[in-house]
Amino acid sequence: MRIALASDHAGFRLKQFIKDRLIEMGHDIEDFGADSEASCDYPDHGRPAAEAVASGKAERAVLVCGTGQGMAMTANKLRGIRAALCFEPYSARMARAHNNANVLVLAGRLTGEVMAEEILAQFLATKYDGGRHDKRLEKMEP
Ligand code: RB5
Repeated sequence: MRIALASDHAGFRLKQFIKDRLIEMGHDIEDFGADSEASCDYPDHGRPAAEAVASGKAERAVLVCGTGQGMAMTANKLRGIRAALCFEPYSARMARAHNNANVLVLAGRLTGEVMAEEILAQFLATKYDGGRHDKRLEKMEP
């Protein structure tokens, strides 16, 4: 799968961890930064990564900031983006199955690596259920 990645300084370490796991799994990664823990603004990295999904250049994105809130808000401004901020695997599974989430957002200051891996696994493995959920997704588009 082609997956876009982005973080700010607060999400940098977890983004790098996720990047390594995704590469090990054989995914094709495009990293939109940040490239260090130097202070930066999450929309500068999160928006282009989410745009890659909205335009079809990437199938999914994983975004990480300190709380996940700023990245989720940034990504969800874009038409066609359904970004899910997840703190545990069940939400990630349901965000795929019911909401067809195409962006996973993680909280670098709150979520540990083991939990992040479990969340990521559900996000990547779960298929969208379709059916009754289609009309609900249509209704949320601006
Ligand atoms: C950075 O201090 C922090 O505000 C950012 O990582 C994120 O949590 C914002 O939503």
